[in-house]
Amino acid sequence: MSKPPIVKPGEILCRVEDLSDPPSKAFTLQFDDGEEVEIFAVRKDDCVYAYINDCPHQLLPLNWKDDVFLTLDKSRILCVMHGATFRIETGQVLSGPMPANCALTAVPIDVIDGVVRLAPREES
Ligand code: FES
Repeated sequence: MSKPPIVKPGEILCRVEDLSDPPSKAFTLQFDDGEEVEIFAVRKDDCVYAYINDCPHQLLPLNWKDDVFLTLDKSRILCVMHGATFRIETGQVLSGPMPANCALTAVPIDVIDGVVRLAPREES
């Protein structure tokens, strides 16, 4: 797999219409200190959600192919490592080899006028 494009907090990820075929896309979130985290955005109908690309089962990436994060029928997020599935809208696990209360970690985004933007990093 190729390294997903780099984005920084507060920057534009993509347009909603860019998430159509496939309806998911990977990015590399890079912080000011150089730390990088793989994330992905996924569209369902006209809503967009974003998560860290770490499966809560063994903290492995969910995908084996660039930008492909969904089941064949595109109804769930899929981890190809051991087949866990997750609800697109919440990241909550629906099936798989982990406790039912597991979930993907959401990444805060804003969608305004069809543009998907990462939330700015909160100051601590
Ligand atoms: S690492 Fe995702 S189901 Fe095992």
